[in-house]
Amino acid sequence: MNTYCNKKIGIIGGGQLGKMMILEAKRLGFYVAVLDPTLNCPASSICDLHIVSDFNDAEGYKKLAKHVDVITYEFEHINATILEELEQKGHKIYPSVKTLKKIQNKYVQKSELKAVGLPVPRFEKVSNEKDIENWIKDNELKYPLMLKTTTSGYDGKGNAVINSAKDIEVAYKKLGSGKTELMLEEFVLLDKEVSIIICTTINGDREIYPVAENTHVNSILDTTITPARITEAVNEEILSIIDKVMQVFESVGTFCIELFIAKNGEVYVNEVAPRPHNSGHYTIEVCFANQFENHIRAIVGLPLGCTKQTKPAVMVNLLGESDGTAKLIGLEEAYKDKNVHVHYYGKAISKIDRKMAHYTVVADTIDEAIKGAEKLKKILRVVGNV
Ligand SMILES: Nc1ncnc2c1ncn2[C@@H]1O[C@H](COP(=O)(O)OP(=O)(O)O)[C@@H](O)[C@H]1O
Ligand SMILES: [Mg+2]
Repeated sequence: MNTYCNKKIGIIGGGQLGKMMILEAKRLGFYVAVLDPTLNCPASSICDLHIVSDFNDAEGYKKLAKHVDVITYEFEHINATILEELEQKGHKIYPSVKTLKKIQNKYVQKSELKAVGLPVPRFEKVSNEKDIENWIKDNELKYPLMLKTTTSGYDGKGNAVINSAKDIEVAYKKLGSGKTELMLEEFVLLDKEVSIIICTTINGDREIYPVAENTHVNSILDTTITPARITEAVNEEILSIIDKVMQVFESVGTFCIELFIAKNGEVYVNEVAPRPHNSGHYTIEVCFANQFENHIRAIVGLPLGCTKQTKPAVMVNLLGESDGTAKLIGLEEAYKDKNVHVHYYGKAISKIDRKMAHYTVVADTIDEAIKGAEKLKKILRVVGNV
């Protein structure tokens, strides 16, 4: 075996992103250990070692570090303090804990972006309902506004829209009445949401994937259309923005930058994820080296593969429709279209709005891919049997 395949990789989080990282790591013969509290998490059946441990238990992290040469993670809501201690002891963690800490808190993250002059929606930290009212008044802001928890938010779970003064109390209560730190954000009237995946190696080499166009339903990613239907000028603007973003969050590994294109044409940075991203799943079918493969290559010190896209593609998330033992419906019917690729994560339990699977439709034109993807929405479903 060569030195690369002798390397052992540790992944914090054994959900769908961890699982897809392992599928790529295994293609190159790497040993992979996973830390995840759920016994039958999606990654458990394909990893070499599953450390069943809470994301805040130092012992679990230490055990993982002992078993592997390099640690990465599939999501950012993990214990950075424990990881920092391990990093200081010489364990390799990518992306770095310094970058992880900046990104974990959305207020810190946005402040870092703002400080270097990057375009972000106006935002402010708020502690109570009076703060919210004052900030709106002082800045003559118009409704709607977006209230967000600064930490632990994902799939819109830390967000609440404020449509009028009477929503302030409801939104404040929904997000824990100040128990979790909050920030208020100007609401961007969106033309489009887009995202872009970037991967950087230990040597500083970088590859960038095409811009993807995203549609959200209830703040959860629903569909990704690639390549994004944007002008060359907007594409150039995004590339110059992401270059600056990556100077702020300089680190090894895969990152995703979510951006807003406003109705007035302005481009804003929404947020940055220090990991492969749901909007980059299309790269599995239509990019020479996908986001998971390049992430693995980056963290073990290998050169990156080509990120060029071969064909248009549309990715659709399948969320749980009901609670109970998970069941995928419509696979045989879906596969009648030979351009359909289904990824079922293997979560035992379906919950309403839980990400259970995704599919990607590949076609010669974007319109054909959109049509194929739309048709499948009624056919492929995940339900919970009680
Ligand atoms: N300031 C904003 N203006 C308009 N829409 C927003 C704003 N902030 C968030 N959203 C919407 O909510 C979605 C989820 O918000 P985001 O901040 O990305 O949180 P999460 O961590 O849950 O992904 C975004 O993709 C977007 O559709
Ligand atoms: Mg987001």
